[in-house]
Amino acid sequence: MDKALDNTLEKYVEQLISEKGQITFAEFMDIALYKEGLGYYQKQNPFGQQGSFYTSVNASESFGRTLARSFIYITKLLGLEQRFCEMGAGSGMLANDILNFVKEREPEFYEELDYLIIEKSGYLIERQKELIEKNHPGKAKWITFEELDNFNGVFYSNELVDAFPVHRVIRMDGELKELYVSKIDGALRFNPGELSTTELKDFLDNINLKVTETQIVDINLDLKRFIEAMADKINKGVMVTIDYGFEAPMLYQSYRRDGTVTCYYNHTQNNDFFDRIGYQDITAFVDFTSLSLYGSKKGLEPMAFMPQWLYLVQSGILEEINEAETDLAKASIKALIMPDGGFGTNFQAFIQGKGIDIPADFRYSRPAKDTLQDMAEFFSEQENGGE
Ligand SMILES: C[S@@+](CC[C@H](N)C(=O)[O-])C[C@H]1O[C@@H](n2cnc3c(N)ncnc32)[C@H](O)[C@@H]1O
Repeated sequence: MDKALDNTLEKYVEQLISEKGQITFAEFMDIALYKEGLGYYQKQNPFGQQGSFYTSVNASESFGRTLARSFIYITKLLGLEQRFCEMGAGSGMLANDILNFVKEREPEFYEELDYLIIEKSGYLIERQKELIEKNHPGKAKWITFEELDNFNGVFYSNELVDAFPVHRVIRMDGELKELYVSKIDGALRFNPGELSTTELKDFLDNINLKVTETQIVDINLDLKRFIEAMADKINKGVMVTIDYGFEAPMLYQSYRRDGTVTCYYNHTQNNDFFDRIGYQDITAFVDFTSLSLYGSKKGLEPMAFMPQWLYLVQSGILEEINEAETDLAKASIKALIMPDGGFGTNFQAFIQGKGIDIPADFRYSRPAKDTLQDMAEFFSEQENGGE
């Protein structure tokens, strides 16, 4: 079936397990995705047709252009400094699409704009530099997460938090256990044991979650560390997190008995976590309630939470459809906002802010039904306008 894949990373994991007895799934996921030179994000282009999955960025450049509209609006409305920071920049296409829009439509804003990128994968940093330096020489600056400090501006990510490693917790015989990765009968398998850290129990208590018997929940402790750190790093600003996931009551419903962590290989989903190590993506749905609660505790307040399609429409994506020159381009933009378009149902946009008073006319406070009405009118005009 698969052409023979180099198994250096698999051997590395097995060696680690033989030394330690077992490792947490979070440790396994971190190695499988990010181990220098060998992890999934560290050695080849993981995105688009040749990779394992598409993100909204691959669907249409209008995704980035619409984000640019949003960030310019937020910056001007709230009087922020002209500074964008993107974390988890992937191929660099999102940054490139955003910068193209700003340069073309708001040249003065572009002149003043600082564009910061924080990326974990050394391999992807090189890919990002190749693309962005060619089109926007000297415009973007790559920094580490630690270097981000006293931030004033708009900070954002698309499909970053779903790529953070997760711990797997299960309730067995009434007790919470963690699922470790062990070698059993010659193969890597899940093995229940005591919780590796009390932070897991604290995380569940924080959202009042009662895990039901034999239910598995995937706990993203890095999400907590990330949002708490961000609250300290932002002096005045807005954080936009776009990803798939739900609020906790929906995400951890007991009918999702097996958690949400899953793999993608060649555009096909599978749950063979220990196959093709380093050659397939591993990802889990994002818990937006925890993002909100841990942020709020440190002064990063929720400003708006909505489905991605609504965020894009409120940010001006209908203008993009109007301006698109071909039917194909229009169709790929529509895929971003139609429920059957693939990015319609599970994807959310969450806006948090620090040091900000939300103005009464903030466009993202507008009721969804008004925006739906606008959409209905827009599409009926488009139909009537066509031949
Ligand atoms: C699923 S990809 C999304 C890429 C891009 N934003 C897009 O939408 O196409 C996740 C990205 O986040 C990066 N990443 C994951 N964890 C990170 C971390 N802790 N710090 C910085 N980047 C990280 C990955 O290397 C990768 O570039």
